[in-house]
Amino acid sequence: MIRSVVRGYGAALPKRVVPNRELEGMVATSDEWIVQRTGIRQRYIAGEGETTASLGEQAARAALDRAGLTPDDIDLVLVATSTPDNTFPATAVNIQQRLGMTHGFAFDIQAVCSGFVYAMATADLYIRGGMARRVLVIGAETFSRILDWNDRTTCVLFGDGAGALVLEAAEGEGTVADRGILTAHLRSDGSHKDKLYVDGGPSTTGTVGHLRMEGREVFKHAVGMITDVIEAAFEATGTTADDLDWLVPHQANRRIIDGSAKKLGIPTDKVVVTVDLHGNTSAASIPLALSVALDDGRIKQGDLVMLEAMGGGFTWGAILVRW
Ligand code: UT7
Repeated sequence: MIRSVVRGYGAALPKRVVPNRELEGMVATSDEWIVQRTGIRQRYIAGEGETTASLGEQAARAALDRAGLTPDDIDLVLVATSTPDNTFPATAVNIQQRLGMTHGFAFDIQAVCSGFVYAMATADLYIRGGMARRVLVIGAETFSRILDWNDRTTCVLFGDGAGALVLEAAEGEGTVADRGILTAHLRSDGSHKDKLYVDGGPSTTGTVGHLRMEGREVFKHAVGMITDVIEAAFEATGTTADDLDWLVPHQANRRIIDGSAKKLGIPTDKVVVTVDLHGNTSAASIPLALSVALDDGRIKQGDLVMLEAMGGGFTWGAILVRW
């Protein structure tokens, strides 16, 4: 059977790092509160000329270089983002143009913090369905541009960045020993749409709007939703937590990550945590975390890696992939 195998990865961060201390001068917060409640120590914030598309392009070029491929080799560009450069066209076609691609097709996926998991699952279907042989999957965000910088309950949590993977069709045996995506599980429940949203949009206010979140409400649902969908991935593949080499979660809050891992019986030394470095970068957080753990040699070819995310909508999902 056809499997979608990871060929390359890349990441990009804005130039400016903003440590917690810098935020103390802007809102009534403290480094201690932010570290204790979230695990975040710093985030990167996009400056002039840095946009979702420019960061996404950088991450994509790095992923292509590592794969030893060029834009000519790519059939589909998928961008997971909630902070597009423009309402339309899609950031994916913007990046397609930046890469000099006039062939293939490109579109965006909007599932907020679960966007990268949704995009990976979508890429896998295009590859296994035969419509694309190689897909560039990008998670790119500039959440700093939709934050209310007077709202301490949200502005300290998010950051900007981008990450990318190149997925390629490869022949597998149909067993969990295969390299590539082994299973994908997506969920959403719109009855929670008012707990984490942006209070503007083209069809309502005609403005971009600002992020609003009932943090405690999101927190309350997070661990249960994440663990349910990971358990579905284990069940579908006949694997267990003991078989996992790495859990690479969406990076929103250290307490959510630790709580989920504990509930699943996954030891903390198998969990990749980068929320301290990047804050919550929404759809970019998983590929950014992957790039850190691949750069430092933790994740190696053949490793069994679980990716999971939960966010606005609510949306949530998990993907099991053999690297
Ligand atoms: O990626 C998408 C998914 N998003 C998430 O997963 C976020 C989920 N939620 C969370 O991570 C947590 O709920 C937060 C980090 C947002 C908040 O942590 P919490 O432990 O739930 O705190 P809380 O909202 O219950 O607030 C506790 C206190 C409140 O003060 P009072 O009412 O107890 O006097 C807040 O006003 O902390 C106060 N507070 C702050 N204090 C200092 C809220 N934000 C801040 C702040 N600095 N930045």
